[in-house]
Amino acid sequence: MSDALIEIDQLRDRADAELRAVKNTGELEQFRIKYLGSKGQVKDLMNLLAKVPKEQKREVGQRVNAVKDQVTAAFEARKSEMSAGAATAMTEDVTEPGKRPEIGNRHILMTVTDELTELFGRMGFSVASGPELEDEFHNFVALNIPESHPARDPLDNYYVTVDSGEGTGRASQAAGASEYARLLRTQTSTVQIRVMETQKPPIRVVIPGRVYRPDTHDETHLSMFHQLEALVVDENVTMVDLKSTIMQFVHAYFGKETKVRFRPSFFPFTEPSAEVDVFFEDKQRWVELGGCGMVHPNVFKACGIDPEKYTGWAFGFGIERIAMRKYAINDIRYFVENDIRFLKQF
Ligand code: DAH
Repeated sequence: MSDALIEIDQLRDRADAELRAVKNTGELEQFRIKYLGSKGQVKDLMNLLAKVPKEQKREVGQRVNAVKDQVTAAFEARKSEMSAGAATAMTEDVTEPGKRPEIGNRHILMTVTDELTELFGRMGFSVASGPELEDEFHNFVALNIPESHPARDPLDNYYVTVDSGEGTGRASQAAGASEYARLLRTQTSTVQIRVMETQKPPIRVVIPGRVYRPDTHDETHLSMFHQLEALVVDENVTMVDLKSTIMQFVHAYFGKETKVRFRPSFFPFTEPSAEVDVFFEDKQRWVELGGCGMVHPNVFKACGIDPEKYTGWAFGFGIERIAMRKYAINDIRYFVENDIRFLKQF
């Protein structure tokens, strides 16, 4: 076979191999220019034809035309194969009507928390917070709750074990390294201690936050719920301030006519202590909001505040209870069930 025929066949083989390697339309276009373009290699074969001896021209000419047709046909085949592939890859029908993504909204408990802190803000309270993973010092000891108190029963608390690598784990950092056992706080009263450890009177704060207790869930109990704590410390603070502030709050939030009742009670960290009830006309019954009282001198001492000079009051109310009364929600479990039909109502 003549050199010219070999060269023509080699070109065809090269073109075949390159065409099979083409992966996208860009590469396909480059292939077209390289082989089939006006300055392409197939065109160059015509120059080759001009150079071959006369007696070979016929055969070489036919071979050039055949290769040109083959390469062109292979190119067209590859091209339609690729556009068919693109069509099947596009599985979505863009003409179908769209589905709107569900847009969520603020959880009702967060809205209520904001309403409460805003209301107390207008009465001169600032907002404080503290860790949910606490130690026994802040949850019990500094709050005048003795070792023997039933509230410290391991079955009534979520105690946690923290890695012995003290101070390095996230858990121990959150609670601050100490020799006290750790637990998920059972009350936001812990933050009273943290505030008094770091601030000097006069103090006027509210503290919204999560608390944890191993309770069985039912329509009025969850093992995680929220409290709103308040603490006021100053000279000459009396129980009159406590009662009038709570009454102002209840009237502002639930309505001017709402009846409030203070029932004598006991908490280790307040003396005297009371429980606050609010009367709801629609249900014709009293609902307990939480506890309150005058800060116990031992609590001041644990925080380095002079109980001879300062007095103070505190309260701790359940935010779920407040929200349930305000928005007529009759089962506390709705707050955590994540049912969009419930959540969307607010
Ligand atoms: N910490 C109490 C509880 O969780 C509620 C409470 C009572 C908080 C009296 C107070 C208070 O600040 O003075 O049951």
